[in-house]
Amino acid sequence: MKRLENKVAVITGGGGGIGAATAKLFLQEGARVLIVGRTEEKLRKTLQELNHENLGYAVADVSKVEDTQRYIQQAAERFGGVDVLVGNAGAEGPYKPLDEHSVEDFDEVMAVNVRGCWLAVKYAFPEMRKRGGGSIVLTSSVMGMVAFPSNSAYTAAKHAVVGLARSLAHDGAPFNIRVNAVCPGVIDNDMTAGIHTRLAPGNEDVVKSRMAQRIPMQRYGTNEEIARLNLFLASDDSSYSTGGVFVSDGGMTAGIRGR
Ligand SMILES: NC(=O)c1ccc[n+]([C@@H]2O[C@H](COP(=O)([O-])OP(=O)(O)OC[C@H]3O[C@@H](n4cnc5c(N)ncnc54)[C@H](OP(=O)(O)O)[C@@H]3O)[C@@H](O)[C@H]2O)c1
Repeated sequence: MKRLENKVAVITGGGGGIGAATAKLFLQEGARVLIVGRTEEKLRKTLQELNHENLGYAVADVSKVEDTQRYIQQAAERFGGVDVLVGNAGAEGPYKPLDEHSVEDFDEVMAVNVRGCWLAVKYAFPEMRKRGGGSIVLTSSVMGMVAFPSNSAYTAAKHAVVGLARSLAHDGAPFNIRVNAVCPGVIDNDMTAGIHTRLAPGNEDVVKSRMAQRIPMQRYGTNEEIARLNLFLASDDSSYSTGGVFVSDGGMTAGIRGR
């Protein structure tokens, strides 16, 4: 039997690298999937690429209450309920010294990563209770465990996502709703490519190779590797895991390479 047979999954940030890879895997495992994002073009592209009758999309800003209520309702109406939520939409904001970091940048990063996850869980909970339980995966980061320079807002936001998973696991447990956090390391996708360009325009390959060499496994992760971790947590394979923090980072948070 497929691991998400008869399950309905909502994946925010589903038009992005990790989200789209997760949607693909969940569909293969029998789920009906609603992907959520701000940019309709990206969602449509994912829809075309995956080309599956059990895939739909909702255009929504995850930091907004009305948008969140609407996409959860859309999943329930189209697919009959919500069993799995992957709160994966995220934005890293600028990498800048504190003096240059604006208050608006800070608020935006918090709104997408923290408020977005909290709202998604708040409005998914009642739908999951109706189904007798569910599984929620919130995408944090290695920056939810350790810090890098020049990005305090994102670091604080991803630490907060870990806090949300731990606290909401208590709220969910009596209703058979599990809540876990995933902490990807550096993933080889558009978000990371954008960071390389902002840090060293024209020298992206040099930055990438230097960064990779500092990771114990000496490479970036892939969207598919994080998707497989999301599948484990979404499915009954992880039936005794809640409030957990699951790292997939090639050893990065174990410490940088020695030689
Ligand atoms: N890439 C990495 O190395 C890495 C490492 C650790 C953690 N993460 C986390 O992994 C998650 C997925 O990121 P990714 O790597 O797949 O990057 P990505 O391709 O940039 O995906 C991020 C997604 O979030 C969506 N999003 C951003 N703000 C939104 C908002 N206000 N409302 C709705 N959707 C919004 C984006 O959609 P729009 O473009 O339409 O806004 C996009 O689809 C994020 O939470 C990220 O912080 C990534």
